[in-house]
Amino acid sequence: MAAELNTALDFIRWGERQFRAAKLYFGHGTDNAWDEAVFLVLHALQLPFNTEQKLLKVKLTAQEKKAVHDILQRRIKERKPAVYLTNSTYFAGFEFYVDERVLIPRSPIAELIERQFVPWIAEPQKVRRILDLGTGSGCLAIASAYAFPWAEVDAVDISTDALAVAKINVERHNLVDRVHLIHSDVFAGLCAANGAAATGANPRYDIIVSNPPYVALEEMQDLPHEYKHEPEMALVADRDGLLFVDRILATYREYLAPRGVLIVEVGNSAAALVAKYPRLPFIWLEFERGMSEVFLLLADTNVS
Ligand SMILES: C[S@@+](CC[C@H](N)C(=O)[O-])C[C@H]1O[C@@H](n2cnc3c(N)ncnc32)[C@H](O)[C@@H]1O
Repeated sequence: MAAELNTALDFIRWGERQFRAAKLYFGHGTDNAWDEAVFLVLHALQLPFNTEQKLLKVKLTAQEKKAVHDILQRRIKERKPAVYLTNSTYFAGFEFYVDERVLIPRSPIAELIERQFVPWIAEPQKVRRILDLGTGSGCLAIASAYAFPWAEVDAVDISTDALAVAKINVERHNLVDRVHLIHSDVFAGLCAANGAAATGANPRYDIIVSNPPYVALEEMQDLPHEYKHEPEMALVADRDGLLFVDRILATYREYLAPRGVLIVEVGNSAAALVAKYPRLPFIWLEFERGMSEVFLLLADTNVS
């Protein structure tokens, strides 16, 4: 470790230079080398994000220097997204535990949740049931539970690893009574989980939200190394990226309440989707933060 590195600011500057030289990829929380270095240095020193500049110029102890140096080096050597090194990230203003069993939360659907899906949901106070398909860390389900404190949320995933992480988050946010974690292959396990198997009546949701796997196989090969630390089953969806979306579109009407909405993130697979379903009246949503393509379909859409 270079002898001239004495303060947090020294390490941030050094980290930024090292990150740029190593050509790291940013996009799992920060979008540039400086912010990434700040994030990791503050984490290693257990300092809050709003730490005053003057504190960053205080001389560090040998132990603190080692902790900071180690985490910056790990970011370079392992090419892991920073939040997998800190096991913590923020989504829709809430903190979430994350590790390599789940995709790092970053869906722009956060913006819709923050404004209770208005104008697509005209009367948020009437929302009773929400479904999150492919919940991963539980971020969409938990943020939705905060946005609709009177609603029940079903959070589905096929990965037991992901559900274990979601459980940590649901418990940390004290939402075990309202966020129900369900092991299910898309819609398949919902009836049984809701005690509806005997009657055959599907549960009906006012909002179905999903950020499914949608990366096409070929596209996956070109992604920066950082993505390889995320679970493959959270990202890849067959040759055209539409495997999971096809399954949602085949069945969602059976689970949507009369004035419900379906909202699905599809990213770069949007063009393939539109080509495959030319008659579906997708409404493409716009966001202030985040660039991924997200569509909305209304329950009363006429698709004949
Ligand atoms: C892109 S991640 C989204 C995670 C989280 N909703 C988010 O926005 O950060 C997709 C999730 O879908 C889950 N998944 C993949 N195939 C599934 C299936 N057939 N049924 C249910 N969940 C599935 C994956 O395990 C993963 O957690």
